[in-house]
Amino acid sequence: MHVLIVHAHPEPQSFNAAMTRTAVDTLEANGHTVEVSDLYAMQFNPVAGWHDFPQAADPSFLHYQREQKIAFERQTYAPEIAWEHGKLTRADLVIFQFPVWWRSSPAILKGWFDRVLGVGFAYGAGRVYSTGGLQGKRALLSVTFGGPTSAAEAVEVLQQLQDGVLAFVGFEVLSPFVVGGPRHLTADARQAELQRYHETLEALTCDRTPPGQCHHRAPLVHDALEQA
Ligand SMILES: Cc1cc2nc3c(=O)[nH]c(=O)nc-3n(C[C@H](O)[C@H](O)[C@H](O)COP(=O)(O)O)c2cc1C
Repeated sequence: MHVLIVHAHPEPQSFNAAMTRTAVDTLEANGHTVEVSDLYAMQFNPVAGWHDFPQAADPSFLHYQREQKIAFERQTYAPEIAWEHGKLTRADLVIFQFPVWWRSSPAILKGWFDRVLGVGFAYGAGRVYSTGGLQGKRALLSVTFGGPTSAAEAVEVLQQLQDGVLAFVGFEVLSPFVVGGPRHLTADARQAELQRYHETLEALTCDRTPPGQCHHRAPLVHDALEQA
């Protein structure tokens, strides 16, 4: 299978960066292919605007969703948006790796949602949820919190992103992978969390691995809701 990791952390030595490296190593070792959109390293611009539409249909008034629809139909999007569309189109699984900031994602990832998950490509004309543009693909939120976090708190914080964004555009949303307070853990405990992530990724991709090599089922988000 092909996996896209959308990574949103500014520090390459952070625990989030270690999680993305773990994911790349784990997935490639299991025969999968991986692309990473490292948003800070790419200096991805999270600000929506005219620059999204080099050939805007109506230069007198920025109707953002209408221009998204037309840019998608005419294939006139700015290259940085078109490249992200290409990565999403190729992916079977998309992992969003980020620290929880203000009970949500860092702004750079919110801007990526605003600009990349546009009308036409991701939703629109009645294409939402099971008929959304990303149908047939799976999505995983892999996140860190500042401190210990209960499953119920994680579900509450991540609900809007999982349902209001990812499920809305058609993703099958997997149960999130959550690490509470990595900065307060010992080196051994951090390593144990990376090992848990490695095992989780092996489990949730095993349905695309040769038969007999694994025996797990990828949990869906409602499993986590039932446990909360
Ligand atoms: C701007 C900002 C907002 C934050 N908001 C939250 C929050 O709402 N909830 C929380 O648990 N931690 C919050 N944190 C703490 C981070 O989630 C935490 O430092 C990070 O997950 C640790 O991972 P790292 O070591 O890879 O950075 C915030 C941190 C920053 C910088």
